[in-house]
Amino acid sequence: MTQDEMKQAVAQAAVDYIKPKLSEDSIVGVGTGSTANFFIDALAEIKHLFDGAVASSEATAERLKNHGITVYELNNVAEMEVYVDGADEFDGGLNLVKGGGGALTREKIVAAVAKEFVCIVDSTKKVDVLGEFPLPVEVIPMARSYVARELVKLDGMPVWREGFVTDNGNLILDVHDMEITEPKELEEFVNNITGVVTNGLFANRGADIVLMGTEQGVETLTL
Ligand code: A5P
Repeated sequence: MTQDEMKQAVAQAAVDYIKPKLSEDSIVGVGTGSTANFFIDALAEIKHLFDGAVASSEATAERLKNHGITVYELNNVAEMEVYVDGADEFDGGLNLVKGGGGALTREKIVAAVAKEFVCIVDSTKKVDVLGEFPLPVEVIPMARSYVARELVKLDGMPVWREGFVTDNGNLILDVHDMEITEPKELEEFVNNITGVVTNGLFANRGADIVLMGTEQGVETLTL
């Protein structure tokens, strides 16, 4: 099975998982990335079963609309049944690193609103300790150098994702060489650096369930 086939399998598994939870009033939060794109394509097959979606990026909004799925502004939504998104890494505690695609802030906001966060990954994303994937940090442009210096104090090696601007008009620093043994604490600490919008650790609001595509099929992981 190729990596794309695994992504497609978990995307379909996510649709099968959320289907019984949906009613005509339900809003589905939708993430960003290649796995989320497979999910959007599968979700389109059941678009008659729910009201609409909230997108975590402009790219996702575009894809949803192309499938004829109604996209709502988050501010106009009071309740969200479920949020489905990929991840760049996850550990045994269902803590995630996200933001490889640069959509981390909107992803974190949508995940905060949702009753349930379903994370869809292929088995290459599983790690014992987070940090092999560089940790994305979204920063206000004028704070870039200051935040980078503060991140070096944490023994990380921040690299400016040059030429990339987030949907919010900000910049990304990718922090290499981190061994993240205490994800909740690090998430809070980095978010407290002045000029940081948010970082890609999803630990304080991690996944409720991970659907992982493997060679043998889709595995369901919960705490
Ligand atoms: C987007 O900003 C990310 O958080 C993605 O969810 C993450 O990078 C996973 O992407 P893939 O599904 O493309 O690996």
